[in-house]
Amino acid sequence: MGDKKLKITETVLRDGHQSLMATRMRTDEMVPILEKMDAVGYHSIECWGGATFDACMRFLDEDPWQRLRTIRKHLKNTKTQMLLRGQNLLGYRHYADDVVEYFVQKSVANGIDILRIFDALNDLRNVEAAVNAAKKEGAHVQLAMSYTTGEAYTLDYWKKLARDMESMGADSICIKDMAGILTPNFATELVSELTKTVDVPIDLHSHCTSGVAPITYVRGVEAGCSIIDTALSPFSMGTSQPATEVMVETFKGTEFDTGLDINLLAEIANHFRPIREKYMAEGILNPKALDVDIKTLLYQVPGGMLSNLMSQLKEQNAMDKYDEVLAEVPRVRKDLGEPPLVTPSSQIVGTQAVLNVLYGERYKVMSKETKAILRGEYGRTIKPFNPEVQKLAIGDEEPITCRPADLLTNELDKLEEEMKIYKEQDEDVLSYALLPGPAVDFFKKRAAKEHLVDPELMDSKNKAYPV
Ligand code: CO
Repeated sequence: MGDKKLKITETVLRDGHQSLMATRMRTDEMVPILEKMDAVGYHSIECWGGATFDACMRFLDEDPWQRLRTIRKHLKNTKTQMLLRGQNLLGYRHYADDVVEYFVQKSVANGIDILRIFDALNDLRNVEAAVNAAKKEGAHVQLAMSYTTGEAYTLDYWKKLARDMESMGADSICIKDMAGILTPNFATELVSELTKTVDVPIDLHSHCTSGVAPITYVRGVEAGCSIIDTALSPFSMGTSQPATEVMVETFKGTEFDTGLDINLLAEIANHFRPIREKYMAEGILNPKALDVDIKTLLYQVPGGMLSNLMSQLKEQNAMDKYDEVLAEVPRVRKDLGEPPLVTPSSQIVGTQAVLNVLYGERYKVMSKETKAILRGEYGRTIKPFNPEVQKLAIGDEEPITCRPADLLTNELDKLEEEMKIYKEQDEDVLSYALLPGPAVDFFKKRAAKEHLVDPELMDSKNKAYPV
């Protein structure tokens, strides 16, 4: 025990169901167990952000802000955590700084304690505005490095990134291994170097996609990482995190003992098991997501990207080109500056690889997103772009080299104007900013139903609601 006591971030309410069943768990399936979860003694419970915002409005007819307030009400002793994609927030483009600031302010006001912020390209200029806003609100800022492999991603690269994150004000740093490709041996090396490089705690976040994550966690913890992300067993393993109960038992009796009560965890898991069964019976949780997918280690690409490639090729009746496309992926990635493969870069690289193979000539057809990345719209990549490919994409146009959001003018007023007829709470403008289509659909349904925004909860959050 002592100061080496391992801390657990529980992901069952966010990444667990996001990774296994497209983020479909409903708030009413969470509420009955929240007070028991609050008693566990978790370091934090990840419960918001990522795809939950989109899924709430698009698929569940739920107000994501209401979900957050409800969860907060029941978690009185535990820190709440969210995942935020830097300047992309929880949407799909770069937003102007005024939207980023307002979104962060409202996230904290509605109940978020810890913001995990990352950028797909590890371009820290893209997280600057969110970090500053979160600091201003007094929240804990965890900066996450999008972990990947490749020539350019040396130990020195990760050390410099960690140092830069610490000087930006990160309160902790997360190694975010979304593809589950961090191997146990490299975890030992990486974590021990990072703990020597920075003073802030290191959090390890991985997925069991390739099967190595539980072992990687053990090695990471032994090397000095002090927080691990786990999901309660019914929503663990496969494309999700290692199981909370398994990790708690693994470290029991060692100097890293979490001190968490395994009986209480088992009781909480009993709540989630029938929910898992229900979604499995409905085909929303595909048992395939639970398989060990060793291809992800072989090709160093996220499992989700492989299945996307397969479905794109199936649609084109070109499954026979699968191997060719897999070989093209690393070449395209190099041409585009060798980015980590995570949303959105994974889709951009994957789709372009498919186009290059199907058209029988590389870059004969270029997607809009490929051109945008080569124009610098997504920020700086670790390696320079292939100049010939860049020329093909943008001709003599001057590429963007500044922080991409510097080119965006404030947009909140315009957004407010566009959506004011639907407005029932301040946060609605943010829902509209991030997902205009689904938000309007949701606002209309809400107006027809009434009581989707619980007035009691609104009044209790004086900071969020001046009324
Ligand atoms: Co994850």
